[in-house]
Amino acid sequence: MARRVLSALLLAALACDAAFAKFGRHSFPEGFVFGAGSAAYQYEGAYKEGGKGPSVWDIFSHIPGGREAPQGHEHGCLPVLNCLDQDPANWLPERRNQQGRGGLLQQPHQRGHSKWAEAIRHHLPLGHTPGPREQLQGLPQREHHDYVDFAEVCFREFGDRVKFWTTFNEPWTYSSMGYGTGAHAPGRCSPFISRSCTPGDSGREPYVVTHHILLAHAEAVALYRAKYQPAQRGQIGITVVTNWYVPSTDTLADRRAVQRSLDFMYGWFLDPIVHGAYPGTMTSFLGDRLPPFTPEQIKLVKGSYDFIGVNYYTSDYASAAPAPNGPQQSYATDIRANTSGFRDGVPIGPPEFVPTFFNSPAGLRELLLYTARRYNNPVIYITENGIAEENSARIPLRKALKDGHRITFHSQHLQFVNHAIKNGVNVKGYFTWTFMDCFEWSDGYLDRFGLIFIDRLNGLKRYRKQSSYWIESFLKREETHY
Ligand code: NOJ
Repeated sequence: MARRVLSALLLAALACDAAFAKFGRHSFPEGFVFGAGSAAYQYEGAYKEGGKGPSVWDIFSHIPGGREAPQGHEHGCLPVLNCLDQDPANWLPERRNQQGRGGLLQQPHQRGHSKWAEAIRHHLPLGHTPGPREQLQGLPQREHHDYVDFAEVCFREFGDRVKFWTTFNEPWTYSSMGYGTGAHAPGRCSPFISRSCTPGDSGREPYVVTHHILLAHAEAVALYRAKYQPAQRGQIGITVVTNWYVPSTDTLADRRAVQRSLDFMYGWFLDPIVHGAYPGTMTSFLGDRLPPFTPEQIKLVKGSYDFIGVNYYTSDYASAAPAPNGPQQSYATDIRANTSGFRDGVPIGPPEFVPTFFNSPAGLRELLLYTARRYNNPVIYITENGIAEENSARIPLRKALKDGHRITFHSQHLQFVNHAIKNGVNVKGYFTWTFMDCFEWSDGYLDRFGLIFIDRLNGLKRYRKQSSYWIESFLKREETHY
């Protein structure tokens, strides 16, 4: 009897292995791209070496008193990137000509520039932290031209090998956290959100900033298409971030809160570039606080993408929130939705949406289906998807390397991406965030998202986490599990 039970268990285990073995790189269409993302500012350190021009984050993370950024960013994650002689660094010094336009086109910084030229291979986001330093008022016209000049330097210098460009990475994060909550550079916020940030007008500024980002994006795309794309044969798009949202209760009010949450995070960017207008919820809630597009701008912005990059981390539950009292409006109160995976400390929602922050694989499938429906089934690259060891600055090495939660995370998300593809969504690639532990913006070095562990206390030594072996075997078609 015992033997029969054992062999039944063995058979079940083998069947389970076979089911696992069926899922690997080969389960995705021919040509599907896999990769791991990184970002210059988060990796390099060396923030003022070799004539490098300061970025808004260089300024923000060195403000005495610390604001939200806990520490200066001198050391990077990469021993080599900390030294400009050995690795790329931000190579555009700050220069302006008499018209106030950046003198970037003629004179990129030679040492940093040549290092980038060696390192770049495939896909390059141009604006992970947009904006040189004095741009604290909402990407005014001049910055917007500087951005296009910057993009042109990159197209010209690296377009022979970069075949996928994204103009901006997560402009939502920049506009809403840089100008709404003040948690990110340049640290402006509504005086009504209490924080030690620079008081701004967060009922207006995030919308003005996004408007200029969209125009800068569209101008860079137009330039690329006219001058570089025919010969270089690359593709260009923009990367946006969103959560997926689920109504807290099955009421019309909560379903509307879901749509508003999506509109204010996702549609804010995708509606203009796909349909040529901001989402209806935004125009009706914001009135003249939302800058209008002129007919020429609509022509420029609409259709300004070959593909969409999507960064996805988690799903949230949305419930309608009452209109704020008083005249003070901010980006956050405009949405009039509470979004959270928990209500009164208790997880809510259907079980398929694992209600843990940073872990809702089914939400990615839903988001992809929604994107295909609402945005004419565009080509999509999942440019970021990942999970951290949170508050883990001093996590013991042994523990950090056993990152089973990351293996489960990627394995489940990839399966839901696969479902979406089988249902007709045009997803062409998947990038984990991130290759190595690095600088996590306002959390400094506390959260570790990497496949590779960086020992910051011991000379930035690198160690492979289990997930990096798992991904390797996934890509070699030998799905293993730990
Ligand atoms: C998105 C951002 O692009 C990246 O910079 C950040 O580190 C990850 N999300 C994780 O928060």
